[in-house]
Amino acid sequence: MTTAPSDPEAARPNQLVVVANRLPIEYADDSTGATWRRAPGGLVSALEPALAGRPATWIGWSGRASAESEPPLPEEIDGLGIVGVPLTDGQIEQFYEGFSNGALWPLYHDAVVTPSYHRPEYMAYREVNALFAAKAAELAPVGSTVWVHDYQLQLVPKMLRDARPDLRIGFFLHIPFPPVELFAQLPWRRQILEGLLGADLVGFQTHDGALNFLAATRRLMALDPGGDRVNVPDEDGYRSVRVGAFPIGIDATSFDAMARNTAIQARAEEIRAEMGGFRLLFLGVDRLDYTKGIDVRLRAFSEGLAEGLLDPSDVTMLQVAVPSRENVDDYQHIRDDIELLVGRINGDLGRVGDPAIHYLHQSVTREELVAMYLAADVLLVTPLRDGMNLVAKEYVASRVQESGAVVLSEFTGAAQQLTDAFIVNPYDIEGLKRTLAAVAASPPEELSRRMVALRTNVFEDDVDRWVRTFLATLEGHVP
Ligand code: ADP
Ligand code: F6P
Repeated sequence: MTTAPSDPEAARPNQLVVVANRLPIEYADDSTGATWRRAPGGLVSALEPALAGRPATWIGWSGRASAESEPPLPEEIDGLGIVGVPLTDGQIEQFYEGFSNGALWPLYHDAVVTPSYHRPEYMAYREVNALFAAKAAELAPVGSTVWVHDYQLQLVPKMLRDARPDLRIGFFLHIPFPPVELFAQLPWRRQILEGLLGADLVGFQTHDGALNFLAATRRLMALDPGGDRVNVPDEDGYRSVRVGAFPIGIDATSFDAMARNTAIQARAEEIRAEMGGFRLLFLGVDRLDYTKGIDVRLRAFSEGLAEGLLDPSDVTMLQVAVPSRENVDDYQHIRDDIELLVGRINGDLGRVGDPAIHYLHQSVTREELVAMYLAADVLLVTPLRDGMNLVAKEYVASRVQESGAVVLSEFTGAAQQLTDAFIVNPYDIEGLKRTLAAVAASPPEELSRRMVALRTNVFEDDVDRWVRTFLATLEGHVP
């Protein structure tokens, strides 16, 4: 059945409709006061600034149960229309914590923890995807472009096409798409593939992701992909779906500008002074997630200290672990594991007033984050698997003095672009330890040469280019 937009005034074809699980804002009632503020996470950080100035509406969930009391959502922020999809406690538990983050998230990250598949959770996933699709079908102007995001909403493209065949539909997956041998585990693999193939363009962070998806359509749906297209049978014969890699970038100029702000520079100095006397500060910043390899880097750093590869009077480390998905069991376990490890390392290697590892389990403001990027000599990014990793790019954009170094896991999307980082295998603790020692001993000119190259990449392939390339491909401006 097709649905017409309820508001005829909505017939503005150049209006972009973004559909993502989270709105770019969340309601927070904490020590900083009760307010709507920017939501954490790569998707929001990347997309929200890139939409500034273009007519767009963002459909998403506020991050809280619909029963909770909170002030109504603002109708727009800086010209960006905001439309909420309310979710009940049960939907949050089954769709978000359950199927999205207990099944799809680990499966798509190489099953680094075991995914759990539960039928009622898939039912809730389908039900919530239908809510998002219905809202987009209701609001999208005739003939307009709808851009659907990420693994929480993979059924939306087909649902939306069934309701509104007049729309141009793009889908972008912010996390990896796994090899078909892993994806084939999923009891609802066919429904997910059919859902995604409802789009006109399906985008991935890397070529490997796109190839894995095309291989899955061949192996599991008996389709015959060729080049960057796969033809999908429909009532008119077939529809051609385009598939490609669109590595996401960041708003590099805004990080650069913040890093030149004198108050933020002063805060960076203060952070270093507060942490005591040392030459090199190693930094990790991640959502507290088992995919991020936080334990791996803590172990490599502490073994480096214990074995004398790193000098404790020369180096120190700050790990910021941003609270994330705290109702999901595996996230509770990873928190316990990391905090036990930090305690052990500091017990063994720290001194009074001088821990080997400074650890924060909290959200930090964007200004504080940039001050940390400025304060740190070495950024450690060691995920076991990561779609892109924007923190690595943000650090580079903030290094306005062209100093500093990035140690980067080869299993991140970012490693395909940031080839002048120190690329490591996060499963190889010996190799990682040696790399940390090598970075600590590298001459500043060598680090600066690498940083200049990294900055060129991050500024050229920024988020604005990503949005323009994806939308131009979707709208047919690019051959
Ligand atoms: P993921 O998408 O898995 O969380 P990324 O490294 O790609 O990982 O993206 C994390 C994003 O979250 C970065 O853009 C980072 O700046 C942002 N971020 C980190 N800490 C906070 C915070 N406390 N509040 C808001 N955004 C944050
Ligand atoms: O980038 C991957 C992603 O899952 C986004 O979809 C999401 O907004 C972000 O990480 C943070 O996760 P969550 O929305 O579950 O807090």
